[in-house]
Amino acid sequence: MRTNELLDRGIKRIEWARTHMPVLAEIRKRMVKEQTFEGLKVGMALHTEAKTAVLALTIQEAGAEVLLTGCNPLSTDDSVALALNEKYGLETYAEKGQSQKAYYQSLNRVLDMKPDYVIDDGADLIFLLHTKRKDILKSVKGANEETTTGIMRIRAMAQDGTLKFPVMSVNDAYMKYMFDNRYGTGQSTMDGIMTATNLVIAGKCFVVAGYGWCGRGIAMRAKGLGADVTVCEIDPIRAIEARLDGFAVKPMAEAVREADMVVTATGCKDVLTARDFRQMKSGCLLANSGHFDNEISKAALKQVSRKRRKVRDSVDEYTLKNGRKVYLLADGRLVNLAAGQGHPAEIMDMSFAIQAMSLEYMAFSVRSLEPNVYDVPDHIDKQVADLKLQTMGVKIDRLTKSQKKYLRDWKEGT
Ligand code: ADE
Repeated sequence: MRTNELLDRGIKRIEWARTHMPVLAEIRKRMVKEQTFEGLKVGMALHTEAKTAVLALTIQEAGAEVLLTGCNPLSTDDSVALALNEKYGLETYAEKGQSQKAYYQSLNRVLDMKPDYVIDDGADLIFLLHTKRKDILKSVKGANEETTTGIMRIRAMAQDGTLKFPVMSVNDAYMKYMFDNRYGTGQSTMDGIMTATNLVIAGKCFVVAGYGWCGRGIAMRAKGLGADVTVCEIDPIRAIEARLDGFAVKPMAEAVREADMVVTATGCKDVLTARDFRQMKSGCLLANSGHFDNEISKAALKQVSRKRRKVRDSVDEYTLKNGRKVYLLADGRLVNLAAGQGHPAEIMDMSFAIQAMSLEYMAFSVRSLEPNVYDVPDHIDKQVADLKLQTMGVKIDRLTKSQKKYLRDWKEGT
């Protein structure tokens, strides 16, 4: 595609996303008027696509100096990165298919600006700051983290005393994980699988590894498309929940024997290993929706295979030593962004409204936060929920004074 066509596509994708992110638009109006982030430097490592552009531009338009790069080498929409650089004057280093070296160079370029605040997805920037870029550590006053995997890493750093600045756990805000992790991942994972394969979901044996909020969403949407869904889960309570939600629950070693498709969403490594690949039927599709590409062990897959070839965009065929063939989507990277278009704009509207307000909270409301992981305050969740309902045109009932009193007063209970 010619550069001007790519630029036009990027601009239109950003406009489309902006039109479908009305909560963030409301917040932007106020922040631009007040110039909320005037004088601040904000370094961001997020999946560089249209919805992220809307967040980055919001923060820039509210007065901050912003640099953006990707948080995964395959999740960048190059048209959007081009539009940010060329049309909106927002410097962006992300590029789809970046080598590991170029990916880290881009993260380092963001840190070179000595950001006051960092917005991260997966904690690669935060991790760099605490290892190879300690020279920058002193200038960073705090960070926001977008995703479950990143928060798991940061909590581990806080626990062993390594973490040197406060981090807002945006992922754990109700208005983020309830919708983004569940409905967002559910829909965008199906988008990624269907775009990559152009195959039918209905009637397939669809195995989901992990029944956290992302796994719940994937299982629900796979069922909705007519698949026969099996869940693999290591937590007994979640396993019961999956069973009572109507899914088969099995250990992976059993589940893979029947599987037509396996999708991982656990946040842990080595969910699918050599033992599993050897048991799979020929034709089985493998995809990952977790943040890192270590859930499906690619080293083990190579070890049990004798041949690998690319058969479609985002689909590699592995011929195993036992003669069967399995298909790895998006090289084991998050299939919803590497092969699909990421979460829908109306979902990222809520997540990124929480991001913008959490940045404001961290920067101005509470200057004395110790290095630790912090929940997003309830009032931010509540404000985003109220705005979302308004923009959806949904009205709800409110408690009367006497009902409020009844709920407060235990003596009125009979
Ligand atoms: N778009 C931007 N960030 C995203 C994320 N973390 N997950 C899915 N889609 C996204």
